[in-house]
Amino acid sequence: MKSIFIVANWKSNKTVAEAEIWLESFKPPVTDRTVIICAPFTLLHLLHERKSGFELGAQDVSPFGEGAFTGAINARQLKELVSWVLIGHSERRKYFGETDETLAQKVTQAKAAGLRVLYCVQDEKTPIPGGVEAVAYEPVWAIGTGKTDTPPNANGVITAIKKTSNVPIVLYGGSVSGGNIASFVSQPSIDGVLVGGGSLDPDIFVQILANAAAS
Ligand code: PGA
Repeated sequence: MKSIFIVANWKSNKTVAEAEIWLESFKPPVTDRTVIICAPFTLLHLLHERKSGFELGAQDVSPFGEGAFTGAINARQLKELVSWVLIGHSERRKYFGETDETLAQKVTQAKAAGLRVLYCVQDEKTPIPGGVEAVAYEPVWAIGTGKTDTPPNANGVITAIKKTSNVPIVLYGGSVSGGNIASFVSQPSIDGVLVGGGSLDPDIFVQILANAAAS
C-alpha cells in the first residue's frame, strides 16, 4: 500500500494561545498516514516542544543564508525546529512577488541545511527545482473556494508531474475536506493532500485524517 501524506497549512493564522487550544483538542486517530503541520514561524517552538502524532514544517524560508538580511528566517534556524519546509505556495507568488528564480534559491538554501522540501505548483507546467522531496499540485482557483479539481483530473496532472519531474511524492491541494478526501487519496497517483482551511479546526482536521485512514 502506498504511504499517504496529510499536510496542514495554517497560513497566517493562530496566536500562541490559540495554537495551545488546538493542540489540546487534537486527538488524532491511530493511523499510518504521515501528518505534517506547516505552521507560522511564531508557533514553531511551541509545536516543536509539543509535537505528538505529527511532523513539523515551516511555510517559508529565506532565499539567503545567515547574515544581514533583516526580518528573514534562514534554513539553518529552521532546521532546529522543523524537518519540512513549504516553498512556492501560490500565495507567496501572488502577494509577495516570489518568482521561479527566488523559489529555486530557497530550495537551494533548504537543501543545504538538510530540510525536506514540499514544493507547490499550479499545474504541470510550473518548473520544479531539483532536489525537492515532494510536490503539491494546487490549482489556484481551488484554494479556499470550496471548489476542487475533479479527482480523475488531479490524478492526471499528478501523473504528468511525476513523469516529467521524477519527484516520487505528489499531493493534491485545494478545498480538501472530510467529505472529499477519500476521493483524492484513493486515486492511484495521488500520495496525499495539502489542507488549508480544513486544518484550522482540530475536530475538522481529525475528521479529514479519519476519512483518509479509512480509504
Ligand atoms: P484550502 O488551502 O484547503 O483552504 O483550499 C489549501 C492551500 O492553499 O494549501
